[in-house]
Amino acid sequence: MDDSLTRENTGLMPYLVAASQVVGVAALAVTGAWLSHYRGGFSWDGAEQFNVHPLCMVLGMVFLCGDALLVFRVFRHETKRATKILHGTLHIMALIISLVGIIAVFQFHKKKKIPDMYSLHSWVGIVTFSLYIMQWILGFIMFFLPGVGYALKSRFKPFHVFLGFSLLVSTIATCLLGLTEKMLFSIPEEYSKLPPEGILANSLGLLLVTFGLVIGYILTREEWRRPPLPEEQALSMDFKTLTQGDSPTEP
Ligand code: HEM
Repeated sequence: MDDSLTRENTGLMPYLVAASQVVGVAALAVTGAWLSHYRGGFSWDGAEQFNVHPLCMVLGMVFLCGDALLVFRVFRHETKRATKILHGTLHIMALIISLVGIIAVFQFHKKKKIPDMYSLHSWVGIVTFSLYIMQWILGFIMFFLPGVGYALKSRFKPFHVFLGFSLLVSTIATCLLGLTEKMLFSIPEEYSKLPPEGILANSLGLLLVTFGLVIGYILTREEWRRPPLPEEQALSMDFKTLTQGDSPTEP
């Protein structure tokens, strides 16, 4: 087995993973505090239905999706099956929660007769959410349904990994657009005078960007990738033998 893959070289990774969780939980707490303290809290029927939207999007599409990306780095020595199940479970939760967030804002607009899909935030948001659904369906077919060949899975995987991280980036960008828009709608006169609500919303934006950066750093460190377990290594050697004709015993 490649020595660089087996070497236990996690370095700063545990600290960065812990930092990502502290920043992620802080972002969630600030979102909840902002919407409760300044925007009237949460309800499904009243004017506060809107507030369900940012809370669910930050919890589902930022925090849970971000953590789902970390699973393969954090649980490096668990079986592939166990890590896949955890990755899938976090994504099921993220999908349900973000779907509730999307339904909340569309219902709220309908009730208040606010036009749909006019802002840049809503355009980037709906593209991101649609790609997330596509990623979900393709990922489920490729990695959870039986019968998909190893070759096809291997070809698809880089695309899945690329889209996974790209979606986190565009989700955070969508949140920044949404936060700015919400400040300009809710406190148009005061925002430029840096009121406490504006400072809180701007700080939330910074926390979300920091969360994305820490996760991006962890994911892009080659030496922190999950090393293949001995049985997976043997499987991939068998596959190589079958497809390329070279023998695992050859030097
Ligand atoms: C902090 C997080 C967020 C805030 C503060 C926020 C804020 C807003 C606001 C103010 C609106 C109403 C105005 C408009 O249509 O642009 C809205 C609508 C919308 N948001 Fe967000 N948003 C957030 C996160 C997200 C995310 C992550 C997505 C998707 C990935 C998203 C998707 C949408 C969509 C599709 C609409 C349009 C709804 C309609 O046209 O009826 N939002 N959001």
